[in-house]
Amino acid sequence: MKKIAFFPGDGIGPEISSCARQVLECVMDLGGPAVEIQEGLVGGAALDAEGEPLPAASLDLALAADAVLLGAVGGPKWDGLPPEKRPEQGLLRLRKALDLYANLRPAQIFPQLVDASPLRPELVREVDILVVRELTGDIYFGEPRGREEVDGKRRAYNTMVYDEDEIRRIARVAFRAAQGRRGKLCSVDKANVLECTRLWREVVTETAQEFPDVQLEHLYVDNAAMQLIRYPAQFDVLLTGNMFGDILSDEASQLTGSIGMLPSASLGEGRAMYEPIHGSAPDIAGQDKANPLATILSVAMMLRHSLAAEAWALRVEKAVTAVLDQGLRTADIAPPGTPVIGTAAMGNAVVAALRGGSA
Ligand code: IPM
Ligand code: MN
Repeated sequence: MKKIAFFPGDGIGPEISSCARQVLECVMDLGGPAVEIQEGLVGGAALDAEGEPLPAASLDLALAADAVLLGAVGGPKWDGLPPEKRPEQGLLRLRKALDLYANLRPAQIFPQLVDASPLRPELVREVDILVVRELTGDIYFGEPRGREEVDGKRRAYNTMVYDEDEIRRIARVAFRAAQGRRGKLCSVDKANVLECTRLWREVVTETAQEFPDVQLEHLYVDNAAMQLIRYPAQFDVLLTGNMFGDILSDEASQLTGSIGMLPSASLGEGRAMYEPIHGSAPDIAGQDKANPLATILSVAMMLRHSLAAEAWALRVEKAVTAVLDQGLRTADIAPPGTPVIGTAAMGNAVVAALRGGSA
């Protein structure tokens, strides 16, 4: 039986991940892949209980699991802590320890939500982008890093660094993804200024030789940010480093109406973690307001990539489409003045749709 490590985390994390867990349990109940779910602490929840953002027991749980399902981490409560004690460190250490270098962030428009996008419908109707974000390198992990005081003046620094192997392996993931889609890859860099990303462009261009059927282009990150708003349908697969991908995937989420709709898969060699791309939204935590669909769609990605259950992944995705067709909306995706439902009701509606009934 496959083992799933389950980390609800902080803020809205527990609410949304409990919906996702129900969906996974429902899939099992209906005859889908059998999994054993083991819960652990990460982020602020772990700091409060154990004084560590990623306690050894949680890391062991994740290392022993076939896949990790995570809610979200972080919150103002822990903002004052030193860098190594921040909740986000729990997530970053998990990604690094499991070597989850390939972060897949699909930004796909649901036709039912075209009007929820801040952009005009004709701009977003065709949007179907896969952001492939490198997740274990770049300025997030580069050394040296730190903060010091020199002659009474504070200074702080980080290092943007990639070696060619790191670039090549993520580039291959992106090229392969493009082969399975519309055959277009856009690699994002800042090669006009940064040596690190000049190497990025060089290695991506070399790697393209292995994939003659994929059409490769390069964009500077500032231009990519602009093009995502100007004409988003031009993109198929967007390949980015860790930091540019963090920023551009949030931007891409807005094309689809709400960051509350976007799932992600973080893949390594044989290990994987699934989480929504949004954060812990402390402002609405505990109020039954959050949209659980991004986390539920992350379960679909888990079924697809870790549990070899494509048909079940599609069924979960269809159940999400069905609740949207029923007109059910959490606050983030509801047009102004229209009825909204809460987190739990949305989760229940997806489970009901999965079972083939209505909510
Ligand atoms: C994300 C988040 C994380 C990141 C934070 C919480 C560390 O913003 O998954 O995009 O920056 O990678
Ligand atoms: Mn982010």
